[in-house]
Amino acid sequence: MNIVLVGFMGTGKTVVAKKLAKMRGMEYLDLDDVIESDRGQAISQIFAEDGEPSFRKLEKETAARISKLDNLVLATGGGVVLDPDNVKNLKRNGVMICLEAEPEVIYSRVKDQTHRPLLNIPDPMKKIRELLDARAPYYAKADFLIDTSDLTIDEVVGEILKIIKTKRTKCRK
Ligand code: S3P
Repeated sequence: MNIVLVGFMGTGKTVVAKKLAKMRGMEYLDLDDVIESDRGQAISQIFAEDGEPSFRKLEKETAARISKLDNLVLATGGGVVLDPDNVKNLKRNGVMICLEAEPEVIYSRVKDQTHRPLLNIPDPMKKIRELLDARAPYYAKADFLIDTSDLTIDEVVGEILKIIKTKRTKCRK
């Protein structure tokens, strides 16, 4: 079974997924990293040269392919949940956990980073609020939600371990 982390940019998917994979002896993969290495281009370059729809197409193809693998902790890009096929594919062999955070927390975590095309704009805080509002129903499709605003990385990992344990116990019954 895979553990699939979804959620908005800056909610901690990558750091949490890496740590969790190490602790559980599972393989860590980041969907955006796979796209970048397949294409030999950074995500920001794909957005700039081919546009967001092309990126979403690549994201969809890659999600479908990776969903067939097993024993992964997968970090995904913040927009992967927008396509219902991605959610269906990623859930098929995995538990989908959404990491959330307050807009101010997200802003403080991403403000010094420049690699995110959607936030590399004059008023990222406004954009964060708009996107969070628009995406809320999509993130709600995850099996579990964890608000990471006041949690350390270790605490988030701990919450996920609890979820997995509960899920296992339920399956055995
Ligand atoms: C995106 C999030 C990014 C990346 C791309 C689009 C989004 O990933 O996939 O820039 O639509 O929210 P992270 O969530 O890992 O930053």
